[in-house]
Amino acid sequence: MSSTIELRNVPERIAITMDGNGRWAELRGRPRLAGHRAGSHTVRRIVRACRRLGVRELTLYAFSEQNWGRPHGEVEGLMALLEEYLLQERDEILQNGVRLRGIGSLDRLPAHVRGALEAVTEASQDHQGMTLTLALSYGGREEIVQAARTLAARCAEGSLAPEAVDERALEALLPSMQCGAPDLMIRTGGELRISNFMLWGSAYSELFFSDILWPDFQVEHLYLAIAAFQRRQRRFGLVPPQQTTAPCPTLLSGS
Ligand code: IPE
Ligand code: IPE
Ligand code: MG
Repeated sequence: MSSTIELRNVPERIAITMDGNGRWAELRGRPRLAGHRAGSHTVRRIVRACRRLGVRELTLYAFSEQNWGRPHGEVEGLMALLEEYLLQERDEILQNGVRLRGIGSLDRLPAHVRGALEAVTEASQDHQGMTLTLALSYGGREEIVQAARTLAARCAEGSLAPEAVDERALEALLPSMQCGAPDLMIRTGGELRISNFMLWGSAYSELFFSDILWPDFQVEHLYLAIAAFQRRQRRFGLVPPQQTTAPCPTLLSGS
């Protein structure tokens, strides 16, 4: 399969479920945390690659609301790695004009992680380059419930008419939709499921599932996903548009 991509048709918004760290470690007879650490190196190269490609929004599913149910040691190790990642990447994020933000139940994060996240978020808030969103303690259902609760409260206090509750009103309360719906959603690790990620925004996202475990995911694999995206025809429930433009010459090859 070709991983040659057209630079003019790179998806603006990419969201990735970074799955497979645990299996990567188990395959090597190592503790799961070794897989998470290896996965953090993949985060670095994929963030860099997306920035080079001109992706506007990159959202990474790093820790789900449900992941709190994992063994204490794994959760603690993941939190330590998160803090380490934020401290180590701070300079690169700031020097490259990247804007960092977190979505999810951030108040559930330990103070040391929240502090590191807030520091980089604040320092990068005016940056105009790519926005890197980390989904931490994130759940798509939880996010929708929270928005529904806010709308219900506004209706109850009389500041909002029930008829005014529409898609726009709900969407405006979803942090995951602040930067728009993903064009391309990638999941590594071979599982064919959404696992509570961006349930609202994924309505018309193009999905790409890769068998590659996240620590093994290379820039070439990202190019494969983008190349697949570029071969898709997005219809949004409508009939196919007529082809009006000539194919663009290929500009970048992943192999
Ligand atoms: C994804 O890798 C990272 C997190 C969920 C935090 P996993 O830890 O789920 O790895 P597998 O799916 O068990 O291999
Ligand atoms: C999804 O992966 C969450 C993240 C990658 C952060 P999981 O490993 O938690 O999902 P399931 O359990 O396979 O559905
Ligand atoms: Mg998993």
